[in-house]
Amino acid sequence: MPLFGLALMLLLSLSSSCTELAESSLLQFLAGLSRDGGITMSWRNGRDCCTWEGITCNADGEVTEVALASRGLEGHVSPSLGSLKGMLRLNLSDNSLSGSLPLEVISSSSMVSLDVSFNRLGGSLLELPSSTPGQHLQVLNISSNFFTGSFALTTWEKAKNLVALNASNNSFSGPVPSSFCTSSASLAVLDLSHNQFSGHIPPELGNCFALTVLKAGYNKITGTIPDELFDATSLRYLSVSNNGLEGTLDDAQIHKLSNLIFLDLAMTGLSGKIPDSIGQLKRLEELHLEHNSMSGELPTSLSKCASLTTISLRGNKFRGELTNINFSTLSNLKTLDLCSNNFTGTIPESIYSCRNLTVLRLSVNKFHGQLSKGIENLKFLTFLSLTHNNFRNITNTLHILKGSRNLKALLIGVNFRHEVMPQDETMDGFENLQVLGIHNFSLTGNLPIWLSKLTNLKVLLLSNNRLTGPIPPWINTLHTLFYIDISNNSLTGEIPGALMEMPMMQQEKTMAYLDIKYFEVPIYLPSAYQYRSINALPQVLNLSSNNLTGIIPLNIGQLGALDSLDLSLNNLSGEIPQSISNLTDLMVLDLSNNHLTGPIPTALGRLNFLSKFNVSNNDLEGPIPV
Ligand SMILES: *[C@@H]1O[C@H](CO)[C@@H](O)[C@H](O)[C@H]1NC(C)=O
Ligand SMILES: *[C@@H]1O[C@H](CO)[C@@H](O)[C@H](O)[C@H]1NC(C)=O
Ligand SMILES: *[C@@H]1O[C@H](CO)[C@@H](O)[C@H](O)[C@H]1NC(C)=O
Ligand SMILES: *[C@@H]1O[C@H](CO)[C@@H](O)[C@H](O)[C@H]1NC(C)=O
Ligand SMILES: *[C@@H]1O[C@H](CO)[C@@H](O)[C@H](O)[C@H]1NC(C)=O
Ligand SMILES: *[C@@H]1O[C@H](CO)[C@@H](O)[C@H](O)[C@H]1NC(C)=O
Ligand SMILES: *[C@@H]1O[C@H](CO)[C@@H](O)[C@H](O)[C@H]1NC(C)=O
Ligand SMILES: *[C@@H]1O[C@H](CO)[C@@H](O)[C@H](O)[C@H]1NC(C)=O
Ligand SMILES: *[C@@H]1O[C@H](CO)[C@@H](O)[C@H](O)[C@H]1NC(C)=O
Ligand SMILES: *[C@@H]1O[C@H](CO)[C@@H](O)[C@H](O)[C@H]1NC(C)=O
Ligand SMILES: *[C@@H]1O[C@H](CO)[C@@H](O)[C@H](O)[C@H]1NC(C)=O
Ligand SMILES: *[C@@H]1O[C@H](CO)[C@@H](O)[C@H](O)[C@H]1NC(C)=O
Repeated sequence: MPLFGLALMLLLSLSSSCTELAESSLLQFLAGLSRDGGITMSWRNGRDCCTWEGITCNADGEVTEVALASRGLEGHVSPSLGSLKGMLRLNLSDNSLSGSLPLEVISSSSMVSLDVSFNRLGGSLLELPSSTPGQHLQVLNISSNFFTGSFALTTWEKAKNLVALNASNNSFSGPVPSSFCTSSASLAVLDLSHNQFSGHIPPELGNCFALTVLKAGYNKITGTIPDELFDATSLRYLSVSNNGLEGTLDDAQIHKLSNLIFLDLAMTGLSGKIPDSIGQLKRLEELHLEHNSMSGELPTSLSKCASLTTISLRGNKFRGELTNINFSTLSNLKTLDLCSNNFTGTIPESIYSCRNLTVLRLSVNKFHGQLSKGIENLKFLTFLSLTHNNFRNITNTLHILKGSRNLKALLIGVNFRHEVMPQDETMDGFENLQVLGIHNFSLTGNLPIWLSKLTNLKVLLLSNNRLTGPIPPWINTLHTLFYIDISNNSLTGEIPGALMEMPMMQQEKTMAYLDIKYFEVPIYLPSAYQYRSINALPQVLNLSSNNLTGIIPLNIGQLGALDSLDLSLNNLSGEIPQSISNLTDLMVLDLSNNHLTGPIPTALGRLNFLSKFNVSNNDLEGPIPV
């Protein structure tokens, strides 16, 4: 038995123990690391390197795989890895490796998959010497590093088997190489996004018959979309957003990409209409054309793209009524963003048959009419913006929407001109509303008591109306409110003590509070900033341009989490309370245009984040604090 065991052991170790060359290559790699993430523990001299952590060998004791992703490695990638002759897969993703990617590693003739994404590698990718034998490389992921320079052409010419190349999120420059698919017919995934590539989209990409994913967004690519590109008919995902393109979408070409699921041509500079033949893209789920110069009416054929879940046309010059789209056929629609166009007419009833609609943004257009009860069908609606149109009957609108249990953001400002804020005490609902914007429409009346029932409200915009009466004492029942803008109204009376008790202005937004996720579309505020998540908004109290009297409450220092405090353009008197110096997060403090007297408290020097400070037009005296 012992003899047999010994023989077996010998046999086993003979068949799998690593070669001396492999071991020394790996130890050289280890020596190049300044932080090894603990792998030295198992990478010990004298122990079979095939048993080392992250190492896989074949039967001949050749290292075939090095898998050391997310190990906290720092230091260089040693060229010695290139001398591992049987190496198929190298994965060093998500470490902090720096320096260059050695030529020896890229030019390895055995390597099938090389992933160094999410590191700090830099420099340019060197040209492979012409003597380099053909490569087997199928997957190359060099994304999210600091690579610069133009793409080394010979490297791709050698990579005849390339299937996926991800070079996104680097600083590559120069033209987009045209030779990809001339050399590798199998290329399926090409991601060049978030770089500095310039020049035109190479027409040769049309030769990429196997290409399913092409991402080249966020570069400096110019020119038109070449007709040839539409010959890459396997494309399912096409994004060239954020470039400097021109021209139109060709009706005679776009229908060829009948496999498209995702099309993103946002912020490219395209003009012209959405072509009729788009109706032939039966699989299209997401259509992003936002922030271009596109115009004309929407083609009726868009109704035929029955798979659509997202239509985003924000920031163009589209016009006409929506009645030429039959939304009943777009039953999968979840996001419809038509913001900032020139659409007219009423909201077509057929929209309300899109029962999965969660985001509906029609703001900044010329829609008119009253909201229909049909919207009650949209049980999943979380975001509704009708801002800046000509809608009327706010009472009716709020009564219809109050039952929308999932509604989190409701923005209806700049409508309902000269109407009266409904005071109806029986108004209830809006249980989950977090953002309410009813700004800019000369609305009269008081701050209505039904607002006190919106117990999940975080952001309240009522600025630029003609609201009168006092700031009500129930304001502090809104436990989650942290952004109040009721500026430019005609509110009177004193600043109520209750306002000093707002929990979410007293404390930082805690983790428990940061429950909600990102919106599918950004929220635009009157400040002209846009926010993707409510929680990213600053903590703001803006009571400016009203008719408030009395003093600034002495305990205002309790609102220690405020980022911005604006009490300007009121009739406030008395001194600036010392306790304002407790508001150490403040970036904006505006007390101008009141009747404040006395000195500027020297303790305001503690407000280290202040970027705007205005106490002009008061009756202040004494020295200016240093
Ligand atoms: C590299 O490893 C990471 C983490 O395990 C994984 O997500 C990634 O897919 C791997 N890369 C390749 C090319 O397999
Ligand atoms: C790198 O890209 C390849 C090919 O697309 C992919 O298989 C791999 O998972 C990516 N790595 C990471 C960490 O995502
Ligand atoms: C490329 O890599 C980046 C991360 O570096 C990732 O976000 C992106 O999805 C990848 N592209 C493809 C097509 O997988
Ligand atoms: C881009 O790369 C940087 C640095 O590696 C990384 O922090 C960031 O998350 C990457 N961005 C994307 C979109 O992958
Ligand atoms: C919107 O349409 C009107 C005519 O209906 C036109 O005068 C105006 O210039 C258009 N606005 C934009 C931004 O295209
Ligand atoms: C709209 O589409 C629905 C469902 O496909 C269909 O029943 C209806 O007749 C269409 N309406 C018009 C006006 O074409
Ligand atoms: C709505 O979404 C649900 C879940 O995502 C899905 O099962 C359902 O088929 C969708 N309904 C329609 C009409 O598309
Ligand atoms: C507003 O809508 C309500 C309810 O539908 C209706 O009773 C009222 O007459 C409408 N007001 C105006 C001015 O249209
Ligand atoms: C609201 O009114 C203010 C002041 O008049 C103006 O600056 C702002 O552009 C208006 N906002 C909208 C969305 O119309
Ligand atoms: C104040 O609101 C009115 C509408 O009620 C608007 O016309 C005016 O431009 C606003 N003033 C400022 C300074 O925003
Ligand atoms: C403020 O109140 C005074 C007197 O009560 C009044 O004359 C003035 O018009 C009011 N200002 C505003 C902006 O409402
Ligand atoms: C200063 O702020 C802290 C917390 O932000 C609060 O506990 C304290 O009462 C405040 N002091 C004054 C004088 O308002």
